[in-house]
Amino acid sequence: RLYCVLLECCPEADPRPDAAALQLALDEKLFGQHLATEVILKAVTGFVNNPNPKKPLALSLHGWAGTGKNFVSKIVAENLYKAGLSSRFVHLFVSTLHFPHEHQVQLYKDQLQKWIRGNVSACAKSIFIFDEMDKLHPGLIDAIKPFLDYYEQIDGVSYRKVIFIFLSNAGGDLITKVALDFWRKGREREEIRLKDLEEVLSLGVFNNRNSGLWHSSLIDRNLIDYFVPFLPLEYKHVKMCIRAEMKSRGSPVDDEIVQKVADEMTFFPKDERIYSDKGCKTVQTKLDFC
Ligand SMILES: *[C@@H]1O[C@H](CO)[C@@H](O)[C@H](O)[C@H]1NC(C)=O
Repeated sequence: RLYCVLLECCPEADPRPDAAALQLALDEKLFGQHLATEVILKAVTGFVNNPNPKKPLALSLHGWAGTGKNFVSKIVAENLYKAGLSSRFVHLFVSTLHFPHEHQVQLYKDQLQKWIRGNVSACAKSIFIFDEMDKLHPGLIDAIKPFLDYYEQIDGVSYRKVIFIFLSNAGGDLITKVALDFWRKGREREEIRLKDLEEVLSLGVFNNRNSGLWHSSLIDRNLIDYFVPFLPLEYKHVKMCIRAEMKSRGSPVDDEIVQKVADEMTFFPKDERIYSDKGCKTVQTKLDFC
């Protein structure tokens, strides 16, 4: 017991996640993403509460920078492990950092397999997050296909309790197009349904050479459980991010400053100027200079 307090232990039969806590965290910290909120909540709680999943959970998160993809992985990690992203059982791979050189793809594939096997042998409830999927060399991700498949076990190791999360800017253009169509028709953003986007997205990234999932067997074999769209953020969502950031810094929310920071952001498309170019990404640094 003391050992587990000092050194984090693999969560064997922990009651986490707490669905209510996950819902609360998503509601309070993620703005303008009704689809992502709905899918993540359903997928993660359903998976973790299933005593006998037939395969690991694989989520592919898509959208422009600053729309909340990294944020959602952080919230999920925090909901499952006390230490959140710093947990020993949460592994983050960043394409440009961990797999930079094209000529070493074979080495990376071997390494990745070894790491995943090694870590999952030590703890079945592990999370692997792949950031910058759109910068991953084509084909590299297929090295992990066996781990995502419906096998009971591979060489004595079961991967069925693992969560894989892929983060990608790829598909951001397709998502924006759908959102813009709704906007131009005067329809509410919240009317966009998952089915308006899921197939567009899976087809789109499958056929996009720079998506990290180009012609990937993960899609081919239906091994990705959910394609989660992150919509481009509007002016009002940017303001919500600024307010939340001020609150988290413990400073009083000053609407004048909120307005000032929001007005410094740039918006597209050129004529309508509806969506923030960088989502909420630069909000923190802009606040520092206020
Ligand atoms: C677990 O994964 C990390 C990368 O996140 C790697 O450095 C480490 O060697 C792996 N552990 C095992 C036992 O394979």
